[in-house]
Formats: sequence, structure tokens, C-alpha cells
Amino acid sequence: MKKRLIKLFTPERIFRGACDVILVNFSFILAFLTYVTWTLLITKNPQLDTLNLLKQNINYYLDSFVSLTLISLCVFSRCGFYTHSRTYQSRFKALVILQAISLSYLVFGFLIYVVDIHRSFPRSVILLGWCYTLFLVLLSRLWSTIWKKVASAEAKAQPHSDPKSILVIGGAGYIGSALLPKLLKEGYAVRLLDIFIYGDEPIKEFLTHPQLKVIRADFRQVDKVVEAIKGVGTVIHLGAIVGDPACSINEELTIDVNLMATRMIAEVCKGFGVERFIFASTCSVYGASDEILDEKSKLNPISLYAKTKIACERVLLQLADDQFNPVILRFSTIYGLSGRTRFDLVVNLLTAKACFDKKITLFDGEQWRPFLHVDDAANSILLSLKAPLESVNKQIFNVGSDTHNYTLAQVAEIIKQHAPEAEIVEMGKNADRRNYRVDFTKLQKTLNFNPKWTLKAGIEQVIEAITKGEVIHYGEEKFDNAKFLRNQGESILSHVTNNLTIKDMLNNVA
Ligand SMILES: NC(=O)c1ccc[n+]([C@@H]2O[C@H](COP(=O)([O-])OP(=O)(O)OC[C@H]3O[C@@H](n4cnc5c(N)ncnc54)[C@H](O)[C@@H]3O)[C@@H](O)[C@H]2O)c1
Repeated sequence: MKKRLIKLFTPERIFRGACDVILVNFSFILAFLTYVTWTLLITKNPQLDTLNLLKQNINYYLDSFVSLTLISLCVFSRCGFYTHSRTYQSRFKALVILQAISLSYLVFGFLIYVVDIHRSFPRSVILLGWCYTLFLVLLSRLWSTIWKKVASAEAKAQPHSDPKSILVIGGAGYIGSALLPKLLKEGYAVRLLDIFIYGDEPIKEFLTHPQLKVIRADFRQVDKVVEAIKGVGTVIHLGAIVGDPACSINEELTIDVNLMATRMIAEVCKGFGVERFIFASTCSVYGASDEILDEKSKLNPISLYAKTKIACERVLLQLADDQFNPVILRFSTIYGLSGRTRFDLVVNLLTAKACFDKKITLFDGEQWRPFLHVDDAANSILLSLKAPLESVNKQIFNVGSDTHNYTLAQVAEIIKQHAPEAEIVEMGKNADRRNYRVDFTKLQKTLNFNPKWTLKAGIEQVIEAITKGEVIHYGEEKFDNAKFLRNQGESILSHVTNNLTIKDMLNNVA
């Protein structure tokens, strides 16, 4: 019960409710002022006592404002002002607002005249109040749409975006910290937008690089996104809550960060003439299947993480046009070292367990997974960045290699070859039902992508780092997204919304 209440009354919803209280009352006062001014100017009745008229209307307001405020708040929240209708498209949002405000004033009028609080209450105040409230609430709710239109008009007036200027969103993460040095080395002017959930350590050595501009912000903030996007030719969007366990901690937050923000970012990109939008998706979208899967295969997501990625892919492809070209990269499961090595991914985790615990704990060794070194993942992004637009635009690519599909038992065996003192311990099945073998022909043929790393070499790399003492506590939360998010990260991203309609959409995915 307490948890439900905490979920219901988030600081953001309380803030929105408070703003509505101010808007409703401001409109109501404005209605009284208009009514009084009108009465004084138009009627020009010499008998009319201005002071008395004012006093009378102040009394009307004081007697009725609590009822109107409470009625409005109840009706607004029933109509989903603070939950699902926030995600509606502009015209549906406007309809809901019209409906809610009309209903509020109808109930209020009923209370005033029928239940008989004030039969002499001026009717025109109710009508005026309805008009003002409708106008102000519509304006406040549709500000982002209006703002985007203004931003887009401004963008059209700007000189064309620079193809050598790149924005990397979520660039301080596992893949981002492997990509950043490559981009800088190739001479790109890089902007990096990240809230640094896991700190800035992963990219620390580049923070003062003259070609790098860091925007330290939440990518759900539209103003920061605009600041970051203005003038760039390509956006690489790696930012997300990543992984099944991390995404299941707070589903609303996951939807907000992974899906809603991606849609907003893509719309801003469109407005500002970003040509190429490279989006990090995942092979987890294939879920569980015994077939070899290519980009045309049926999707079978079995986690919220995968569902948000599929929904993002669809949103991006719907937004695509002659100017806006999304490129979707469905990455294999990543392994190996980068500026922010993660030890919540199977190869790195099992290797660390083998070194530290002398145990390789295996859940359902028959499950297939494609793997890719983090350095190769960064290379694949570079390739899709440099490829002629017509060969990659509006395309989905599985990113990995046909030679890199392994069962988890095979992975355990390879690790054991490098850590022979470790014992493989079969643990039966766990909650992770993912099982997919993937075909990477399209990427190989289109971009001539061939990974430089083998799984064996990646495992050796991780073992070497452990042996040198570069990794001491692989179980530390900074190496594990879910652990970190549960303990600290959620408060960094505490801006929670309840997107029921998007949730419904996700349930229908695939
Ligand atoms: N690592 C993998 O095995 C793998 C596999 C398939 C796909 N992917 C995809 O690749 C991308 C990068 O993955 P990763 O492993 O580097 O993830 P990561 O968790 O290491 O990095 C994510 C980055 O995004 C940032 N971020 C998250 N929410 C933010 C917000 N609201 N505002 C600003 N910054 C925010 C974090 O601070 C972090 O730096 C993700 O989209 C992921 O879904 C990764």
C-alpha cells in the first residue's frame, strides 16, 4: 500500500498537480476580473457600487475556489493527465484536455446551482473560467509540441549540419568508451551527451581533448538534447538502461529512458536535419528460437529490455524520410575490455568467476548466443558511420559474426582452457530463457565487417587484466548495471513517468 502510494505520488506528479492548481485558480481569478471589468464598463450603472461589486466577487471566489480546485484535480487525474494521456499525440491530448476541463466546470456548475451553494453566482464567470482554463492548460500541455516546431523552424534557418561533427549519446558506457577514442583519432569533432550514471572514469583521459565537448545531462531533457544536436551531422545513440535485469528494476523508468527518450531525440534530430542516426539495438530481440535468425526473422522478445528496443526500431523506421536516415545495429552480446568494462555479461562474468572463485557456474549450457568483442562493436559503428548513406539508410543489421555463435557450454569450455584450475558447475536452468543463433551475412556483405577479435583472445585479455590486478572485485556494483541501478543509479534517473499506453504498445510487440 505504502509502495503504491509512493509510486502514485511521485515528485513529478505532485509538481504537475501543483502547476494545475495554479493554472485553474489563475484562470478563475482572471474570469472574475473580466466579469467585474465588463460589468463596470458596459452596464455603466450609476447605482453600481464598485467596491461592493469587488467585495461580492471576492467572496464568491473564496467560497468556491476549493471546490473547483478539488473537482479539477480529481477529474484531471481520472482523465490520465498525470499518467497515460501524457503520451498521447497532440490532437488526442487536446481532446482529453477539452473533455476534462468541460467535465470539471460542469460538475462545478452543478454544485453551485443545483446543490445550491450560491444561486446568484455569475454564470459568465463559469463560462469565462472554462475558456481561460482550457486555453492555459492546453498551452502548458502542448508547449513541447510548439517548442519542437519553433526549434525545427530555427533549425531550417541554420547552416547545414557538419558531417564531421558527431554526437554520441550514452558515450561514457561500455561500448561508448571503446568508440570515443576511435572517433577522436579519426578526426571527428565529438559531442558526448551522458548523465554518467557509472561515473566519468571510463572516458576520463579524453575529457580535456580539444575535439570533445561533453554535455553532462539526462537525455530525456529536450533542451539539452537540442543543445547537443544543433549542427551535428550524425547521432550515435547508445544511451539506455541496458540488460534484462537492469530494465526490470523499474519498468516505467525503463520505458521512459529507452523508448520515450529515443522518440523525442529522433524527432529533434529530424527537426535539426541530422542525416544519419545510428541506433544501438540488440540481438536479444530474437528472444528464444531454435532457428538461425536473420534480420527478416520473426521477433520473439522475452524481456522488457528487448521490447523497448523493438519499439524504438519501429518508431525510428516510421520517422525515416529522405532527410532522416536511421541505421539500426542489433549487437551481439559484448565481451572484452573497454573504459567501462562490464562484468554482468556472460563471457566477462564467467571468466572473472573462473579466475577469482575457481568456478564457472553454468545455467542451461545448451542456450545459443552470438558474441562480439567491444572493440569490434565500436568498429562496426565506425563502418556504419562511414558507409555511403544509401547502403545503410533505414536498414537493420545484426552485428557480429557467423563464427561467433556459441552455446554457453562452449563458452565455459573455452574459459576452462585458459583457467584450467576452475571447475565447471552446472546449475540447471535460470530465469534467462534467451536462446538464439544469428546470421550476420547482411552486415558482412554490405559493410565488409569481419571481427578482429576471437572469443579466445577476448577471454585471454580479461584474464590478463585480472592477473595484472586491474580488476580486483568483479562483483562491485560499478561493473554491474542492475546492481548499480538498484543501489544508486535509480536516484540519478529518478524522473519517473507512467506511460500506460506505451506499455500496452510494448505488450503487443512481436
Ligand atoms: N553491452 C552489450 O552486450 C550490448 C548488447 C546489445 C546491445 N547493446 C546496446 O548498446 C548500447 C550501449 O550499451 P553499453 O553496454 O555500452 O551500456 P552501458 O550501460 O555501459 O552504457 C549506457 C550509457 O548510457 C548512459 N545513460 C543511461 N541513461 C541515461 C540518461 N537518461 N541520460 C544520459 N545518459 C544516460 C549511462 O550513463 C551510460 O554511460 C545500449 O543501447 C545497449 O542496449 C549493448
